[in-house]
Amino acid sequence: MQKSIDPNLDLFEAIAELKQERNAVILAHYYQDPDIQDVADFIGDSLALAQAAAKTEADVIVFAGVHFMAEGAKIINPGKTVLLPDLAAGCSLADSCPPEGLAALKEQYPDHAVVSYINCSAEVKAMSDLICTSSNAVRMINSIPLDRGIIFAPDQNLGRYLIKQTGRDMVLWQGSCIVHETFSARRITALKVQHPDATVIAHPECEESVLALADVIGSTQALRDHVRKHPRGSFIVATEPGIMHQMRKDCPQAVLIAAPPKDETCACNECPFMRLNTLEKLYLCMRDMTPEVTMPEGLRLRALAPLQRMLDLSAPALAGSAR
Ligand code: 13P
Ligand code: SF4
Repeated sequence: MQKSIDPNLDLFEAIAELKQERNAVILAHYYQDPDIQDVADFIGDSLALAQAAAKTEADVIVFAGVHFMAEGAKIINPGKTVLLPDLAAGCSLADSCPPEGLAALKEQYPDHAVVSYINCSAEVKAMSDLICTSSNAVRMINSIPLDRGIIFAPDQNLGRYLIKQTGRDMVLWQGSCIVHETFSARRITALKVQHPDATVIAHPECEESVLALADVIGSTQALRDHVRKHPRGSFIVATEPGIMHQMRKDCPQAVLIAAPPKDETCACNECPFMRLNTLEKLYLCMRDMTPEVTMPEGLRLRALAPLQRMLDLSAPALAGSAR
């Protein structure tokens, strides 16, 4: 069915009205379009958004992010309606790790603990002992007893970085993010020559060759916080460029340079899944209360256990920003 919107409608106003009417909260990831970030009640990284979902008293959670994020909110809040503006907003990392594949790896290492990055399906979460995000992964890995082997899924780049950070020998699922593997170490090196004062700030999903050039490695929240501490600095930003919207608002005088992709002709540093959500789709999903994220109760309960363990082990303070 074709969904139409009155061309004279002020979407910002209409969304604000629907928020009141539905007792809804809009949670947005840093990779969303600036307009979506601007109508959100809370903007954050994956951990902060999961924490915000766990805390909210709203009846409806509108998740402006990708499917695994909305699914996480539903796992934590079975009694609430969780809406995702575009149900096709997936994630290449989550897709790279089908549950059958992880089951086969678990059979090879039956005594290993499974730590899964939150970028995975509810089925994969349900097969895991503990979930982590890019901002708490070191802490989560360190919570596993030293004499226990670890399978880490699905991001091999984050996994390799964590092996270095924690000294733990982990079996890595060979997944990766199509956005973060796009950055070119060669072109970043060339940019550093042009901008010798610029600091390279990178997300740990980037390839090892890019992380080797980084001065700061961290989650989207950690990268934003770093820029905030240096409001007049220059930065080469090796993550999805949506994050630069908040960085620009925080620090109008900072020089922000998007790290270049290997392919000079594409905009492949933009996450095609995150960018499926638009302000129009956000309005429509709140107007029509669909698409809704749901899952069988048995699966939800199995996925909740490792996710709740992560929330319990994480710092209580909410990062991100409420608007
Ligand atoms: P954050 O943990 O920084 O939110 O990362 C999420 C993500 O999808 C990065 O690609
Ligand atoms: Fe998934 Fe990568 Fe997009 Fe993040 S940026 S949602 S990891 S595809």
